[in-house]
Amino acid sequence: MTQISYQQCLNPACAAEYDVQEALFACPACGDLLDVRYRWERMAVPADWSIFEDRWANRSDPRDFSGVWRFRELLAFCPPEQLVTVGEGQTVCQANDGIAAYVRSRPGRVFLQYEGLNPSGSFKDNGMAAAFSHARMIGVRHVACASTGNTSASVALYAHACGMQCSVFIGSGRIAYGKLSQALDYGAQTIQIQGDFDDCMRRVQEVCRDKNLYLVNSLNPFRLEGQKTIMYRVLESLGWRVPDWIVVPGGNLGNSSAFGKAFAELKELGLIGKIPRLAVINAAGADTLYDLYENQNLRFNGGRVEAERIDAYYARLNESGYRPHTLATAIEISRPVNLKKCLRALEICRGLVRRVTDEEILDAKAAVGRFGLGCEPASGASVAGLKRLRAEGVIGADETVVCILTGHQLKDPTVTVDYHSRHQGEFSNRPREVPDEIDQIIRALEL
Ligand code: F0G
Repeated sequence: MTQISYQQCLNPACAAEYDVQEALFACPACGDLLDVRYRWERMAVPADWSIFEDRWANRSDPRDFSGVWRFRELLAFCPPEQLVTVGEGQTVCQANDGIAAYVRSRPGRVFLQYEGLNPSGSFKDNGMAAAFSHARMIGVRHVACASTGNTSASVALYAHACGMQCSVFIGSGRIAYGKLSQALDYGAQTIQIQGDFDDCMRRVQEVCRDKNLYLVNSLNPFRLEGQKTIMYRVLESLGWRVPDWIVVPGGNLGNSSAFGKAFAELKELGLIGKIPRLAVINAAGADTLYDLYENQNLRFNGGRVEAERIDAYYARLNESGYRPHTLATAIEISRPVNLKKCLRALEICRGLVRRVTDEEILDAKAAVGRFGLGCEPASGASVAGLKRLRAEGVIGADETVVCILTGHQLKDPTVTVDYHSRHQGEFSNRPREVPDEIDQIIRALEL
């Protein structure tokens, strides 16, 4: 295994290589992000997609049933007998004409990839299947993460499945109860820090370094390998046709980074002929990527990112005491750790970034609810972003678009009930309170 896969620094001026047996969350030589890389020429990568699809019919081998591991040749860093799965990735991409109408696209052109159907209710399980396989492979006993909620829920579930201890750091007061309840229920040691996600992210890295815990945030390059499979399943559901656009919410930027890597590798392997365009959607109250990419024109530039401009940006956030704020708490992040990898994905996919208000997010979320799937607020950002890009004419009515719904509708019932009870949006659906009298009940029914 050590020969066919390795870790490599993303910075081309460094490009240091490391063994996959090492647990590294930054390049020891230069501090930059790490990738998992493969020597494809030494591997038996299937020449067409059918083998991946056929495996899904085999319910007797959990690795074939897993929506991550049935693509295992495309993320082969771990011996097959060590792979961890709890049945993640049973998700499909479905056309949704209600949403197509909502964003003014033609019927049959808009698809929703509902990652809320994962065991812990979010896309994170794709990444954790891979990160925990790596952790088990190298003998880890204790994992840790910072989280806006979904990561902690997923980590707690996988840690239990692997018999590992886990500590999760969350910003106090900034976590939806559905997610907090999962972490508590699955037995995670839960530390609520008086601060926000960015504070938690900084602290968990310190703790992992000092106490030698295994970090399962998306700084962990193995996690992103699992998240590549979301794109494989999108392609599988579309009969292996490449859509014109992928639209995804952007928080810590792990998904967008993983998607770009997935497409670059598939193209290199000849499994796809073209690469879709990528739209990453920030919440307006947490729009670092939008600001740097669209307003300030920061680019990956073949790996020569002007890091001093990012540092200066963060220094200004510190000086002004800026705190991100959005009702889509999952993406309330102002210092996304995968920023450089996301810039690379935007380069690979000729991408763009938009930001949408909380109101747009909640209306889009309600539309997703009304038209049959439901999602949590952060996921609504992808549909809100698509609506905006359609209105701008950047995405055409005939183009095929896949919006990623990253988390389940039940993750954050508070925001949903509040929207329907108080908001006068297009889809708001206020409950009516009536006395326990039959006449009044029948009148309230509006039959
Ligand atoms: N959508 C949901 C539902 C999320 O939970 C997250 C991230 C994102 C989108 C953003 O994805 O980080 O890959 O850009 N949640 C993390 C957490 C930060 O801790 O649960 P990203």
